[in-house]
Amino acid sequence: MNKISLTINGKKIEAVPGQTVLEVARENGIDIPTLCYYPGTKLVGACRVCVVEIEGQRCLAASCAMPVSPGMVVRTDTPRVVEAQKMVVELLWASGDHNCLVCEANGNCELQDLVYRFKIEKPRFPIEPPGYPVERSNTMIQRDLNKCILCGRCIRVCNEIQVNEVLDFSERGSRMKVGPAFDADYIDSNCVFCGACVDACPTGAIVNRQSRFEGRPWELKKVRTTCGYCGVGCQMDLNLHEGRIVKVTGSRDHGTPNYGSLCVKGRFGMDFIHHPSRLKKPLIREGGELREASWDEAYSYIADRMSAIKAKHGPDSLAGLSSARCTNEENYLFQKFIRAAVGTNNVDHCARL
Ligand code: FES
Repeated sequence: MNKISLTINGKKIEAVPGQTVLEVARENGIDIPTLCYYPGTKLVGACRVCVVEIEGQRCLAASCAMPVSPGMVVRTDTPRVVEAQKMVVELLWASGDHNCLVCEANGNCELQDLVYRFKIEKPRFPIEPPGYPVERSNTMIQRDLNKCILCGRCIRVCNEIQVNEVLDFSERGSRMKVGPAFDADYIDSNCVFCGACVDACPTGAIVNRQSRFEGRPWELKKVRTTCGYCGVGCQMDLNLHEGRIVKVTGSRDHGTPNYGSLCVKGRFGMDFIHHPSRLKKPLIREGGELREASWDEAYSYIADRMSAIKAKHGPDSLAGLSSARCTNEENYLFQKFIRAAVGTNNVDHCARL
């Protein structure tokens, strides 16, 4: 494809037609702050924190939504640009209840990062939080719209990536807010609790409720793993605090097969791991009661019973059902065992949980 050239901060740069100024700048190591920009979703240019100066244009332009054009001359670092970006951050701060002391996102908040970047001690505007009640009507996701900056990232991931179409803006002007239809709580809407909005939220407006007070962002160690719930093989990060899994997060950088998307089980269904009632040893039923056994005893018991059934009724009286939680190699070995050792083709696979 024919490339075009433009200049950003005095540096001659080549770009592909259709790219935005933001994309080209970032590819070339030029930092532009963003808030509403979310890769993989529609460009909306809503927050204006990414504004840049373009030679010949009277107004500052949102770089995230501005396509490059041949000969364009862009400046990302002029006093006018920095002052405009700073004012946007101050206005966002002043329009919400951004109390980092009690915010779960403290240390992982993009608004907080920008306040620090622009060295803002205090917004020059009066702080006027809207005073919405915090939504705690479900056990998985907490929503505090007083911390919402109306970037719309949650709406776009919900509609465009997850295609659940639960969230949208409602009301107008200073009363504008984000939520399900008819201002319902998540639990009363058709939300499936995939939690993509939690990952997309740049502030503490939408947070994982299970991990509240379970560890600050800088204390958590992320361990990349493959979800064991079904056979898709979704990539996820287990967030550990002092050796305990406190939450699961996805990342758009994870690539195939899920590109950061998770289902309700993968994101919120890992609490069984540390549950005191978790089954950790095999159980054998004797006289109607279950008793704990060693693995050796359990395997011997299974082998004896299967051999006895096979001797009495033939191999086709037995069947094997394997699991999507197993690896391909384990499933291969299982069918081999059922076919070659047991002697029947009665073998199937649950395909999903
Ligand atoms: Fe460009 Fe919000 S990041 S307008």
